[in-house]
Parts: sequence; structure tokens; C-alpha cells
Amino acid sequence: MKSIVVVGSQWGDEGKGKVTNYYSSKADIVVRYQGGNNAGHTVKFNGMEFHLQTIPSGIFNEKTLNILGNGMVINPISLYSEMKTLLDAGFSLKNMVISSRANVDLNYHLTLDGLKEAHLKDKQIGTTKKGIGPCYTDKISRDGIRFCDFIDEDFPKIYAERLKEKNEEIARYGGEVIDLEESLKEYGKLAKFFKPYVKETVSILAKAKEENKKILFEGAQGTMLDIDFGTYPYVSSSNSSAGGAITGSGIGIDYIEACVGIVKAYTTRVGEGPFVTELHNELADTIREKAHEYGVVTHRPRRIGYLDLNQLRFSRNVNGFKYFALMLLDILSGLDEIKVCTKYELDGEVIDYIPASLKETYRCKPIYVTLPGWKEDITNVRSFKDLPENAKNYVQFIEKEIGATACLISVGPDHDATIIKEDIF
Ligand code: IMO
Ligand code: MG
Repeated sequence: MKSIVVVGSQWGDEGKGKVTNYYSSKADIVVRYQGGNNAGHTVKFNGMEFHLQTIPSGIFNEKTLNILGNGMVINPISLYSEMKTLLDAGFSLKNMVISSRANVDLNYHLTLDGLKEAHLKDKQIGTTKKGIGPCYTDKISRDGIRFCDFIDEDFPKIYAERLKEKNEEIARYGGEVIDLEESLKEYGKLAKFFKPYVKETVSILAKAKEENKKILFEGAQGTMLDIDFGTYPYVSSSNSSAGGAITGSGIGIDYIEACVGIVKAYTTRVGEGPFVTELHNELADTIREKAHEYGVVTHRPRRIGYLDLNQLRFSRNVNGFKYFALMLLDILSGLDEIKVCTKYELDGEVIDYIPASLKETYRCKPIYVTLPGWKEDITNVRSFKDLPENAKNYVQFIEKEIGATACLISVGPDHDATIIKEDIF
């Protein structure tokens, strides 16, 4: 296939990093299309470990062009430090461009994210406090500052105007106002640094299409954190589902061939909000420690639950994925039996969708099927046929229930600990 979209099908942290890293080695171009440094994953390359939040995962291959798409909100301070680490490690970063239409996630967005959360008291979203919501809010209300403006000589004037209003808002929340001169000094230096990286990217993608280049669209977060389809308002502020790949890059609808949903073999969530299959028991603690389920960005312990096929079916519908990558299957080894949720019960009725209403979602009860577990360690298995029968059965049950094919199965954190069930890209 010449073009695929990789999207999280749950609440983020599904293991997208490993999959995008795998596919990006075959891609001519990798595009991040939404979100910002609220995302985070660790990539191992040549024995070194890197922590990426904003930069696409194709950065380690000099021949792969990495585009930070227009749908992103980018914090220049945080991006600079991410880039600095890579530059110091010897990467040229000549293979990276920032869309001139991408929005700049500024210091007042961060301050307001923190203040708004504090103001919500017991109704907090549990955001990453990276300014993501306030930055997208400004974008939609047409008060955003984009990278084309950030590197323009008029930036100090526009920023000063915005900061005046934002400081009033910050003061209303009881926060500490931001100093104009200090900010301009720092942003001025960064604007100079970023200038060579900022490009019009629709034309770059159009040329790539003409040349039949292989393009990978790298989604951050997950479908259940999507601003339209997630568990609103406990969501992030962008379209993290596959639709975002079109609007967040300018690729047009004629080039994307498939979407690969990334599915963790169980479910996790960080932050607040409903979680129908959540577990509060020893099994949850065991999984959390075994898989080190703590946030990469915020270090918060992740909430743990059984696999939710009702959610995955919804996610398949929203994204239209024909394929999925099943991650962290090895974590389930050693269990006598494993429950999976197939549908929900809502007020005595069986439903096969995710309700829009938060109140209804909180009332949903999982309907479980119990599948037999497997005892064998599977981390050295490299072919589907060599998996224990019950592990194969688990995969096939998911395939049947959600109507999609597993193309890749991860059986360990290392790059090699992967079963390629179908070669799609
Ligand atoms: P990756 O790409 C998991 C969650 C936050 C919070 C909600 C809103 O690593 O999978 P935000 O700061 O985006 O306004 O927070 O979304 N969240 C994530 N959870 N993985 C992520 O990214 C996330 N990015 C945001 O915890 O509940
Ligand atoms: Mg993460």
C-alpha cells in the first residue's frame, strides 16, 4: 500500500510508537497530523533510547521526510529541546519540516490549561497541562498564532496584543501574569532557529502523491480521546481519529489506502472520565507493574481494564480500519482465563455502540465473555502459527468480533518481538 494512517483505537498509549516506528522504516514520508507534546513515546534506535513527543517517528531515517502537519499544536520551547537532543546525538534533522499552518502552543496556553484545570476542582479532565485545549480553542476562535506568523517580523506585535488579553484572563483565575519582554526574547531566538524548518507542506505532499511516494500518517492519542467521538468532555481537543489525517495534513481524500487501528490487548486510560471495563483489583495492579503502565508524559499511573470490543467496534466504525495491530499480548500470558467485553448493558438493554451522553456511559455495564488463557511465555514467538492455541484463539476472537484483520502482533517491547501476520505496507 502506498499510504496508511496509524491511529490509536482506545484512550492512547496503545503502543503506537512501536508500530509507527516499524512502518516508518518503509515510508518515504511520515506525517504527524494532530495533537502536540501531550503525546509521548519511547523509541529505541541503534542501542540509544529517545523520547519523542512532537517529532514524527521517521526522524531516525535520514531518507524519510518528517512533516509536522497543520493539524498540530506545537510548543516551540519543547520542540526545540526535543530537536536539540537529536542534534546532539548526531542526527541532521534536515529531514524534518514544520507546516507553516501549524498552530503555536504558547506560554499563555500552558498557564491557562493549568489554571482552568485547577478551577474545575473535582470535575478536572486530568489534562497533560501542555496547553493543548487552550491552543486549539484559539485556533477555532481564530485567535491562534501559526508558524507562518511566528517566524514573521510582525510576531512581537501580534503576540503583545494576544498576551494583553490572556494576562487579563490569567489574572481573573488568580494566576501569575506573563512578562512580555522576557517571552519575546525567548520566542525571538526560537523563531530564528525554526525559520528554515517552516514550509508550505500541502505542495510537498502533492508532489509526493505525483511521485507515488509511500506516506505514513502518524496519529497521536486515541479514538476515545477524539474531540468528536471520544468520551466528551474527557477527551483531548483534536480529531485523533483517521479523519484528522486528511484535515491535519492537506493530503486530500484520494491517496489514503487504509487505516491501521492500534489495539492494546487490554485497556488503559490516564486522566478522568468513564471506563466501562475498568478493574480495581489485583489483576489491574499486576498488569500495571508488568507492563509499567505509567504515563510517559505525566508519569501518572494508568487505569487498567479488560479489553472492550464494544469500544473497538465503535472505533473501527469511526476510523474505518480493516486492519489492526495487537499490542502487548505478552502481558496477558500466565492467566487462567481472560474476560473480554463484547457489548454493553444500558438500563436493561443490550447496546452495541458508545453512547454520546456521559451520564448514560457511566450507567453502562460490560457484558463479558470468558476466554481460556495461556501459560506459555510468548516473547520469542515470531510467527502466528507458533502462538499457543489459546493466544491464537484470543486474536481470532477479536478479529471476528470487530470485523478487522490483525496485521501485526507485538509480543514484547523490543523491535524484533513482533509477529507480522500480514504485510500491508
Ligand atoms: P499518546 O499519543 C494517553 C489524555 C489526558 C487527558 C485528556 C486531555 O501518548 O497516546 P490534553 O492534555 O490532551 O488536553 O488532555 O487526554 N491524553 C492522553 N492519554 N495518551 C496520550 O497520548 C494522551 N494525550 C492526552 O490524560 O485525559
Ligand atoms: Mg503516550
